[in-house]
Amino acid sequence: MLVRCIRAFRPGGVLYRAFATVRYHQRGDPADVLRLEADDDVSELGPREVAVKMLFAPINPSDINQVEGSYGVLPTLPAVGGNEGVGEVTAVGSDVTRLAVGDWAVPMPAAGFGTWRNVGKADVSMLQKCPSDIPAEYAATIGVNPCTAYRLLRDFETLREGDTVIQNGANSQVGVAVIQMARDMGVRTINVVRERPPGDNTVELLKSLGADVVVTPAVLGVADDYAEAVAGLPPPRLGLNCVGGSIATSVAKQLDEGGALVSYGGMSLRPITLPATILQDKGVRCDGFWITRWTQDRPREEREAMIADVAEMIKSGRLRSFLERHRFTQFSQAMKEARKPYRSRKVLLDMSR
Ligand SMILES: NC(=O)c1ccc[n+]([C@@H]2O[C@H](COP(=O)([O-])OP(=O)(O)OC[C@H]3O[C@@H](n4cnc5c(N)ncnc54)[C@H](OP(=O)(O)O)[C@@H]3O)[C@@H](O)[C@H]2O)c1
Repeated sequence: MLVRCIRAFRPGGVLYRAFATVRYHQRGDPADVLRLEADDDVSELGPREVAVKMLFAPINPSDINQVEGSYGVLPTLPAVGGNEGVGEVTAVGSDVTRLAVGDWAVPMPAAGFGTWRNVGKADVSMLQKCPSDIPAEYAATIGVNPCTAYRLLRDFETLREGDTVIQNGANSQVGVAVIQMARDMGVRTINVVRERPPGDNTVELLKSLGADVVVTPAVLGVADDYAEAVAGLPPPRLGLNCVGGSIATSVAKQLDEGGALVSYGGMSLRPITLPATILQDKGVRCDGFWITRWTQDRPREEREAMIADVAEMIKSGRLRSFLERHRFTQFSQAMKEARKPYRSRKVLLDMSR
């Protein structure tokens, strides 16, 4: 991966770093295909265009899948990497009324506006105003993971206080948002995380956020051990799956009669297989969720209201994320970190460094 710093001189003679855009011209391993290129020219704007200076942008699993070519929606090549982030509006075209200079803007999911860049311009329909009274790091990650958790807890089962939700990949950023939003609703969570390496504090971290039970796949797979771990909790009404394979099957087996299994990711790259009895006898329903499809199907105002709601949770301290800042100038290193297993922190690119 060719990522180096482009150096330039400011008129005053002070050396500064004008980092640029991480782009790919063919799909493949991010380590091979991502290239550093010069920033786009944002000096001339069309009437519907908006120019932004990017502040922060995460590296999400879906960004990596998109570069590899294995994601549900693929941008036309060449493409700029990254789908999430927050930018400050620096200029707007003559017809733009929804955004103004100084606003913070986040891209609409899978709009095709790559976020791994210092500056960029886009049609106003690709961007959405974001509250600027939350930390910029949180704004950069508000549009996908917390919104997914928000929908997963509302759209598939009517959850009441005292109900239980079970989820795998519970230490993913979607998972930690599920834990905190469920806690706010009075809903208990059973959280499945892979066996951790020595010294890892993921279990303590999840419990500090309000996780009621944290178990490994091994415990989930042994009836007596699982029964002991979840003693006192009602069988879960909702199961959330972002892993697939045998862990998805185990989650489905714990569901209450008539409960729902909702898949939103496939981190293990394995298919989900379910015994017929789960569907026939227990009447478990299976569904899927994709925030991109949801955004396309729903009015913009509904998404704006959801983001405002999530921003309130952030402001009041009810929703925390675990983010690890990396310099954009060290993109290669940041990408290596993002691809490592057993991380409980999202890699976030700081575009100013
Ligand atoms: N459908 C949607 O709308 C939507 C929206 C947002 C996210 N997603 C999907 O949700 C998933 C989580 O996203 P995120 O950004 O929250 O993730 P993240 O914070 O980057 O965390 C990744 C998670 O995946 C787990 N994981 C990685 N490889 C695994 C494997 N081989 N087997 C089991 N677990 C594995 C990690 O566990 P360890 O710590 O044990 O490595 C961690 O819990 C991804 O698949 C993403 O594409 C979907």
